[in-house]
Amino acid sequence: TDDPFAVPNGLLIGAGVSAIQTEGAWDEDGKGESAADHVLHTGKLTKLGFSNDSHQHDVAANSYRRYKDDVKAAAELGLKLYRLSISWSRVLPDGVARNEKGIQYYHDLIDEVLKHNMVPLVTLYHFDHPWVLEDQFKGWQSDKMIDYFKTYASLAFKEYGSKVKMWITINEPNMYCTYFPSLFKEAGIYTDADMDHYACIRVSLLAHAEAYHIFKDAGYEGQVGCSALLMTARPNSTRPEDVYAADAFNQVSAGVVLSPIIHGDYPEIVKAHATKQFVPFTEAERQRITGTADFIAINAYYGMIASYSTSSFNPFIHIPVIGPFMSDVPFVFVMIEGVDLQHMMSMFSVVEPDAIRSAVLWTWNEYKMPVLISENGYGDISNLGKKDRTRGVYHSAFLRTLVSTMKEYSIKVIGYCTWSLIDSFEWSAGFGRPFGLIHVDYEGGSLERSQKDSSQFWIELARTGRIPL
Ligand code: BG6
Repeated sequence: TDDPFAVPNGLLIGAGVSAIQTEGAWDEDGKGESAADHVLHTGKLTKLGFSNDSHQHDVAANSYRRYKDDVKAAAELGLKLYRLSISWSRVLPDGVARNEKGIQYYHDLIDEVLKHNMVPLVTLYHFDHPWVLEDQFKGWQSDKMIDYFKTYASLAFKEYGSKVKMWITINEPNMYCTYFPSLFKEAGIYTDADMDHYACIRVSLLAHAEAYHIFKDAGYEGQVGCSALLMTARPNSTRPEDVYAADAFNQVSAGVVLSPIIHGDYPEIVKAHATKQFVPFTEAERQRITGTADFIAINAYYGMIASYSTSSFNPFIHIPVIGPFMSDVPFVFVMIEGVDLQHMMSMFSVVEPDAIRSAVLWTWNEYKMPVLISENGYGDISNLGKKDRTRGVYHSAFLRTLVSTMKEYSIKVIGYCTWSLIDSFEWSAGFGRPFGLIHVDYEGGSLERSQKDSSQFWIELARTGRIPL
């Protein structure tokens, strides 16, 4: 049609959750402790904004028991895409031995999604590997992780491969490898010297590539990718220095994950600026990782504005996620688009839909591959209830911008997955910054699921096939 806001054919719209943020039941039916469980269980993360109750996530939304409520809620919103993650430590508690009850749980969940005519999008790793692997050899910082991940991926493809056609191997190695070290450090498990984010990214990418090859070599039907957090920077001016700064930021923070799996190596800017920690890929590794994605999955929440700076003042240098990358490119000064320095923690509640335009254009330009928006969402610390009209405004603006960008530049985007389907345990704010399209009653403790004001937006979208205002 000529309607500019009609949902294009082939764009699946839905919502996602991760296991550790929703399932609870952290030790039920044979589940092992994950590294994330372990860090949260130390109870030492209050300075980072976690509640004193370090066991919040042990119950979370109890989706382990209530998954049918989650699936039903998604279907009632008219969603078509259902993103979930498998908890590695639920299916292979020690990384080796199968846990049949845990394996059955994901069969039940995936069957339920299919029964409601939604497409399951399954993430193998969303921050919750068995703690023993961290304890024994520092998890993703060691090459030993690759074989364990191969075992896990083989199991998941064998069990669920006939039902699931869209897979994300690893969620955001660039976020995991820079943010989780700060948790391990705060918990007293690691010191700075124990944490090498380049080692972690390198091993994650090699493990991703092995999973990709296992899937393709076994002849499963479907698409496999790896997701990256993308905080796309655009230059503050047309000065060449600012253009270089924006490119440097995008390459060190996101290209570091995406470029190897498409082109087989880190971006030139990363190689030019990385500090001594950096271990290059060998020729054999480069060949193994090249072209190991059928789509580029990006988690895009907000945009950045970058300038070239000669000052030593860099407000981001101590901030988890961005800081470790910034130390390689101290000449880059970035600001979150639409957010001033005093309000940086409101980065998830700023309605600047150009962020998604920049994200999709940058990704398409760099990789010329189909794009999957695996996360985009609105998390507001000042809005904990069901009255969330702004969330509808946010998704309307982002989706309309996405669709017009796709049409204008003939960009192939295969899915738009909001974060998150239900209010979940969030890394930086516990239950204090809900992103859910669906409310979960944590306040009253009933954990009941119910619609929010913004639910009407999704229902109307499904009914009309166009993005409501
Ligand atoms: C993404 C993660 O980076 O951001 C999610 O994949 C996370 O797991 C989301 O929940 C929001 O961030 P936060 O810090 O509020 O949990």
